[in-house]
Amino acid sequence: MFRDLERIEREFEAGLASAAGDPGAIEAVRVRFLGRKGEMQALLRRFASLPPAEKPAAGKALNALKTRIETAVAEASAAAAAVRRRAEIAAGGLDVGLPARTPWRGSLHPVTRTRRELERIFRDLGYTVESGPEVEDDFHNFQALNLPPNHPARDATDTFYVEGGLLLRTHTSPVQIRTMQARRPPIRMVCPGRVYRRDLDATHLPMFHQLEALVVDEGISMADLKGTIDALWKRFFGDDVRIRFRPGYFPFVEPGCEYDVSCRVCGGRGCRACKGTGWLELGGAGMVHPAVFEAVGIDAERYTGFAFGLGIDRIAMVRHGIDDLRLLMENDIRFLARFPA
Ligand code: DAH
Repeated sequence: MFRDLERIEREFEAGLASAAGDPGAIEAVRVRFLGRKGEMQALLRRFASLPPAEKPAAGKALNALKTRIETAVAEASAAAAAVRRRAEIAAGGLDVGLPARTPWRGSLHPVTRTRRELERIFRDLGYTVESGPEVEDDFHNFQALNLPPNHPARDATDTFYVEGGLLLRTHTSPVQIRTMQARRPPIRMVCPGRVYRRDLDATHLPMFHQLEALVVDEGISMADLKGTIDALWKRFFGDDVRIRFRPGYFPFVEPGCEYDVSCRVCGGRGCRACKGTGWLELGGAGMVHPAVFEAVGIDAERYTGFAFGLGIDRIAMVRHGIDDLRLLMENDIRFLARFPA
């Protein structure tokens, strides 16, 4: 044991001497002697099986050597660092007076975070998360949603057409259709995704994000719709949020409505964000129109359902107090860095 201690000490001295001034080599020496699989650990294991009488003296020597090695390594790396620093200063490449550079930390985009949060709430409520193509056909985007060719409501969502009669989907509602074509009730699904319209100003973008919810089963009523919307926004914004439903027209629901939440900026007293009304419009909703069930072959006598949509970007704006939708899409790091995850 003692002979090994001496050998290790000699080897250590030699190793450290040849590593002097080189931080990498000093680290290698440290690992070789002090590392988990290093020389000192090996000795420690042998120490455990020594006869009790020999332990006190051996232990003392072992500890002394370990301390020596640790101190010598620390001194050698401090010296190497000092030499390097002096060399850098001499070369003029280092200004120690400059403020330190803080490392950049990535974070999720506010829209992504809002989407994920909404998805989580719906998953907790037992919904599946679905997706569909962004380049849609006329049937799924319009016709099956009770928007026949020449229906005036098509104008409200004028869009980008692609060759071959395809178009960039104007809403996430076509995913309702695809889901009902693929599965039989009971259905509880949401689908978040990008949608496109020919629009561009502070509150409208040619590409934005929606989330669509659809529930189809026997005995689903307007009360289920109202309860679900209520539960969703209470979870998202907090229990103090108030919800309001107004009659609204969408060809794929009957009755249809729009729903608002009490303004999150002023608490409902009226401010610029809510244009003095105290309410923020969040989306449309309603009971699935029998014509929609017919288009996908679901028996409208047996099943009823509700659907609603919402704009994810809009909700991210409300949540973070952002007043121009375009900021969300410019990907200016200085702006995005204000929303650390
Ligand atoms: N698809 C509609 C839009 O983009 C939003 C919407 C309204 C979705 C009513 C629905 C609904 O599911 O029931 O303007």
